[in-house]
Amino acid sequence: MKKFYVTTPIYYVNAEPHIGSSYTTIVGDIISRYKRMRGYDVFYLTGTDEHGQKILQAAKAKNIDPQELCNELSGKFKTLWEELQITNDYFVRTTDEQHMKTVQFFVEKMLENGDIYKGKYEGWYCVPCETYWTNEEIEEKDGKKICPSCGREVNWVEEENYFFRLSKYNEPLKKHFKENPDFVEPEFRKNEMLKILESGLKDLSITRTTFNWGVPMPNDPKHVIYVWVDALINYVSALGYPENKELFEKYWPADLHLIGKEINRFHSLIWPAMLMSVGLPLPKKVFAHGWLTVNGQKISKSLGNAIDPRVLVKAYGNDVIRYYLMRDIVFGKDGDFSEDNLITRYNSDLVNDLSNLVHRTLSMVNKYFDSKIPEPSEKAEVDNQLHDLINSTIEKYENYMDKYLFTHALESLWELVRFTNKYIDLTEPWLLGKDESKKMRLATVMYNLMDSIRIIGLLISPIMPDTAIKIFEKLSIEEPEKYINNENIKIGLLQSGKKVNIGDPIFKRIDVKKWEKVIVMKKEEGKMEEKKVEAKKEEIMENVLIDIDYFKNVDLRVAKILEAEKVKKSKKLIKLQLDLGELGKRQIVAGIANYYEPENLIGKRIIIVANLKPAKLMGIESNGMLLAAKINDKLVLLTTDGDIEPGAKIS
Ligand code: MSP
Repeated sequence: MKKFYVTTPIYYVNAEPHIGSSYTTIVGDIISRYKRMRGYDVFYLTGTDEHGQKILQAAKAKNIDPQELCNELSGKFKTLWEELQITNDYFVRTTDEQHMKTVQFFVEKMLENGDIYKGKYEGWYCVPCETYWTNEEIEEKDGKKICPSCGREVNWVEEENYFFRLSKYNEPLKKHFKENPDFVEPEFRKNEMLKILESGLKDLSITRTTFNWGVPMPNDPKHVIYVWVDALINYVSALGYPENKELFEKYWPADLHLIGKEINRFHSLIWPAMLMSVGLPLPKKVFAHGWLTVNGQKISKSLGNAIDPRVLVKAYGNDVIRYYLMRDIVFGKDGDFSEDNLITRYNSDLVNDLSNLVHRTLSMVNKYFDSKIPEPSEKAEVDNQLHDLINSTIEKYENYMDKYLFTHALESLWELVRFTNKYIDLTEPWLLGKDESKKMRLATVMYNLMDSIRIIGLLISPIMPDTAIKIFEKLSIEEPEKYINNENIKIGLLQSGKKVNIGDPIFKRIDVKKWEKVIVMKKEEGKMEEKKVEAKKEEIMENVLIDIDYFKNVDLRVAKILEAEKVKKSKKLIKLQLDLGELGKRQIVAGIANYYEPENLIGKRIIIVANLKPAKLMGIESNGMLLAAKINDKLVLLTTDGDIEPGAKIS
């Protein structure tokens, strides 16, 4: 079996996770699910980075033990990933004993190979980035020395440190980049790395002595190992290196390190050099993505816009956030998380295109085939058009997903969603349904629609796992989780004969006029904050748009009230005997006793839903439902504008 090892950066535990840090983890999850569907044995790794000065300072500010802070925040990351249904195979922590042992083993090997020497470090250090900077690299603002990466003030450091001979690997790295042109992506990020290599790498200080929150240097425990060296080793320690040979040899080298653009240097230059030093193979690819802003602003805790992903998920749903991130933000480039755009995408792509397609189709299967999936038989030219598009979409989708071009993959998939909707207009099932001789053709049309929906469900499953399962459940596919498999991405595999489950539409329209957004601007300070009140999605969502076929499933009839009496022991219920003309007599129970006296009801012509499933109210059978208009504490029955026979159909 082919393997695929994909990693995220390990997250600093000085602050809570936000939508920016969740982005990489969501992408990693999408890639993992996609690869699993394609038959790979996947190992998906994420975790937390818990050593170093930054964490120590955060713990001091809270007046707690650093380990306590790490446990608390690492736990928050772990829980969030569970809530976001991230399917990581392991969660590594740099304060795990096993990881710390691996770090020492690794550094020991570097020492043995003569790649580490003692020297004096004099230069700048940025604690938030945990990065060393030289005099030439540093920038100045308002008379202060600031970090060229994050813009915060840097500290001057003078220490006796151990150094890694990074410069020794400048040429081997250049060679590696040349021989593996896809090693770093996107291309423009690779070029930034090549530029650094052109100007020549300098040796790197890899220990500190002024604090002790880290892994002790094996040969000199007064020193702790530089947090980045410690952190990068997580990618092999998580596989049990060096003890667990089996696991390590199965998955190493990593197929993909997913990272943000600002930590590219560490992953594309320093980490490969460290691996060369100990003689391990290099990862196959480093992909550096861009940064997210929120409603146009940089995400930062001090700006107050570090949106809690849970709030977004609560308001919109996990799949919607995942869809939006993949559809609107081009992977690799910077992008803006805009709630307005998210809502627009939701209403157009998910409600109008996808959810309506599924609901329309299943309503017609219900109407014309009593919900049973028919056998396809009579074909027409337009079917070939649909099938050709399905095949070309599968090909394009896979090609794009393999290149991590998620936006493109979704664009091509939505071409199929839209064409499948169009196929309904082209085949006009409502006309076929009127003519008994066209039943076979109608069966083919319905089958093709559902089969296309099934394939769409499979293809969206890595990005929208819940939606895929909902689609499979509606199509009565058994063991839907197991169904997500490459083998099933083929035309014609939908099983006929089963009954579909229409249920609720997958997505309901958001009424933008009534919808309270989750991310709001605090006007006075120009800051953002999350809505404190929990958005109640279901309450504010407008009714779904339905088409005529869906409405026609409701059999509305005029009924004449013959008898009416209060249901004993009930304050609300009245039992009615109705005349429905050609449909015969009916008993229904209605909750109208607070508004009508039974004797005043006799003789009235009311409107009822005649094809409602029978139900029992206070033990009395009710075979239908009357229609009434209600507002506040007022209720009136719907009647007809003139005399008409009982049983008359309303359309
Ligand atoms: N601990 C290091 C990584 C060590 S990996 C061996 C670190 N941690 S971090 O918590 O600061 O950042 C983790 C990841 O989150 C980085 O890839 C970073 O790019 C990403 N993001 C943080 N904020 C982000 C956005 N606003 N947008 C997109 N990604 C962002 O660096």
